[in-house]
Amino acid sequence: MERTFVAIKPDGVKRGLIGKIIERFENKSYKIIGLKMINVTPEIAAKHYEEHVGKPFYEKLIRFITMGPIIAMVVEGKNAIKGVRHLVGKTNPDEADDGSIRADFSSFSTLNLVHASDSPQSAQREMELYFKEEELCPNYKNMFEIVLEELGE
Ligand code: PPS
Repeated sequence: MERTFVAIKPDGVKRGLIGKIIERFENKSYKIIGLKMINVTPEIAAKHYEEHVGKPFYEKLIRFITMGPIIAMVVEGKNAIKGVRHLVGKTNPDEADDGSIRADFSSFSTLNLVHASDSPQSAQREMELYFKEEELCPNYKNMFEIVLEELGE
């Protein structure tokens, strides 16, 4: 099983979409093993988005992620990094596949609701930025795992 970092951005929280967004991940089999609501400080934001320093959208990105609370999550499952990115959809909601979170809930590229790690390296770095290992609860089985176990897989 693979772990990835996911954040529901301030637009998702303010629009009351926390439950609907989390449901998408759970429906697909992913297990939430870490979850908290936090205000991202400018310092954390700068670390989170350090690879984008100098890009034209950098300042807006920092302003956006610090404008209200986010839901930070660690999500676990089979090929979770790629699968979660697929569920979230492309950066610009207008270009995202139908059925993805961004396509279904937004039409503004800035207001794209969710962040998800794009590689194993980013996932590791972002999980460590937002969570201590002892804050994670990987030791329960979700229904997908229980059924797979019954099948002997
Ligand atoms: S890049 O250059 O391909 O790495 O950029 P990309 O992966 O598409 O986006 C990196 C993050 O920047 C956000 N983004 C923007 N925010 C505000 N305005 C504009 N124009 C913009 N373009 C990209 C994008 O949502 C990514 O943030 P996360 O949190 O990872 O979604």
